[in-house]
Amino acid sequence: MCETCNKAGKGTFYVTTPIYYPSDNLHIGHAYCTTATDTLARFKRLQGYDTFFLTGLDEHGQKIERKAAEKGVSPQAYVDEICVNTKKLWEIMDISYDDFIRTTEERHTKIVQKIFEKLYQQGDIYKSEYEGWYCTPCESFWTEHQLVDGKCPDCGRPVEKAHEESYFLRLSKYAPRLIEHIKSHPEFIQPESRANEMLNNFLLPGLEDLCVSRTSFSWGIPVTFDPKHVIYVWVDALSNYITALGYLSEDDSKFRKYWPADVHIVGKEIVRFHTIIWPIILMALGLPLPKQVFGHGWLVMDGQKMSKSIGNVVDPVVLCDRYGSDAIRYFLLREMPFGADGNFTNEALLARINSDLANDLGNLVSRTVAMIEKYYGGVLPEMGQRQEVDDNLIALAEALPGKVDELLGKMQFSTALAEIWKLIGECNRYIDLTQPWVLGRSEEGKARLNTVLYALAECCRIVGVLIAPFMPKTPARIFAQLGVEEAALQSWDSVGRFGGIRPGTVVHKGEALFPRIDVKKEMEALAALNPKKDAPKAEKKPEAKPEDKAAQDEAEQGLIGIEDFAKVQLKVAKVTAAEAVKRSDKLLKLTVQCGGQTRTVVSGIAKHYAPEDLVGKTVVLVANLKPAKLKGIVSEGMLLAAADDEKGLLRLLTVDGDIPDGTEIG
Ligand code: ME8
Repeated sequence: MCETCNKAGKGTFYVTTPIYYPSDNLHIGHAYCTTATDTLARFKRLQGYDTFFLTGLDEHGQKIERKAAEKGVSPQAYVDEICVNTKKLWEIMDISYDDFIRTTEERHTKIVQKIFEKLYQQGDIYKSEYEGWYCTPCESFWTEHQLVDGKCPDCGRPVEKAHEESYFLRLSKYAPRLIEHIKSHPEFIQPESRANEMLNNFLLPGLEDLCVSRTSFSWGIPVTFDPKHVIYVWVDALSNYITALGYLSEDDSKFRKYWPADVHIVGKEIVRFHTIIWPIILMALGLPLPKQVFGHGWLVMDGQKMSKSIGNVVDPVVLCDRYGSDAIRYFLLREMPFGADGNFTNEALLARINSDLANDLGNLVSRTVAMIEKYYGGVLPEMGQRQEVDDNLIALAEALPGKVDELLGKMQFSTALAEIWKLIGECNRYIDLTQPWVLGRSEEGKARLNTVLYALAECCRIVGVLIAPFMPKTPARIFAQLGVEEAALQSWDSVGRFGGIRPGTVVHKGEALFPRIDVKKEMEALAALNPKKDAPKAEKKPEAKPEDKAAQDEAEQGLIGIEDFAKVQLKVAKVTAAEAVKRSDKLLKLTVQCGGQTRTVVSGIAKHYAPEDLVGKTVVLVANLKPAKLKGIVSEGMLLAAADDEKGLLRLLTVDGDIPDGTEIG
């Protein structure tokens, strides 16, 4: 029962995103996870659940310490600025979080210290020595498992064996209980394939205890009873889900109300931490486990174009600015099934906007309103007698809320949208079948037209309600055109039964919901965009001094100095092996030799070269590109190629003659 309105509520719903590592360039992949979580939270609120949606930032660690030092600011100042930008992005994207937790906040750090102390006192955390691999230039410890080809996963340089005094969490003690829990709660890890992966790859072979403190850096939460140690990393990060609710604090009312979480939505690479380490911490604290952890796939951006040109078009701020946040949210949730990886391309985005939003939804609303204006002076007629064709449409509309509910219960955002668009498609077909423009010519036809236009207006209203969680701005624009003002007619309760919109309602034709895009022009504009100019700014930058102006002008014209060019290390490399990448029609995995080093390079050239054509080629490698993971393979560099997207041509740059691999190009 709701305390304020005295109505029977549906209960609570607690949903979280991961807390993000602070990043100067939050990209569309981050927006993907947050948009999905926001949609679920909005849907549950619409249904009447007392919903709590948590997101935030994971602000500690050596990387932050180092990046702040490079910028010459304190780690706190560094994360503070990023936090402002992150919140701005979520505002632009209509992310309706109820709380935003930062792991540097006192409400978090104090409780993490208490949790650590409690686990230590009860013997679940103990002190020992950590043996790992140390990368001296990066000052980083790595486990055997984290190394890439036996080298540092960050910089690719050799690592040395090293020891560090550390605290450990006794994962092994709780493993049997966790295995039992996973087996008896099939809904706990979703999609199901990820549960099998956790059991077979990690739990059943036996868990090693987890190192939970570090002494090699200081940007973290100190261990109260041994302050040269900072708590690292998962005990700090994962606890956010309960510290934000006030667990172990003076006011733990939210914790009592919302815990356990209904679902933690996380990317597939951190499912392991959320389904093994987190439940074990909770078991050790004597707390109930979250009801579900859902591991979604990754958004892969434009295949091989990710490294260079994509930077300007996957900035969600730029995209929201051009097409509106609702269009971007729609695309993210519609284009790929949530559990699987999906490819982001500008072409696909623009195609969805034109076909689904402008043609299907936009046209339906504008045709419906225009016809009510034309034939009834803008006043919605009463529904007359129904025929089979009307009954079919109405049955589809009445069944739709139940389908959306069922699909969102399984995180099937894309299929839920497809179902809503089925109704939109049927409405457009219904217009073609019933031919209102013919009916409008005779009195007899007009009697029938009443029913047709009423049915269309009511379907538009139902669509407006159901798309609200996915596209929060569009419903108000649909309702304004339909003249639907009452909150009751915009509610979940109003969509189960056909016939909510009142005859006599006055409609108003408005602007097109989604104007059609000239794809060719827009593709060119996207390619020419400068992301930095459009990114959210934390604060106004001071005016440039006159002597800086010339450099700034050059930068704005896209000119760089020789020192910028010199940062790119180009080297001759020889391709020694090549194979197709599984589940990708674009990527090839190449092995190249470069000055005594063997490197793996994943390249988006599969449509242009057969693997066997590449072996033996002498190519140009960008040798100092940060490693990046593509389809689970770490790519250590990029091959230069000339591409003409319009003609679909691509050719690798190759080097003439007998020049040895490893030779510098410049
Ligand atoms: O992992 N496509 O933070 P994070 C889809 N701080 N999702 C993506 C993505 C992409 N291209 N790139 C990132 C962390 N993500 C930890 C979490 S939780 C207690 C601590 C998703 O900033 C990624 O899968 O690296 C993850 O779920 C989220 O963004 C945050 O990633």
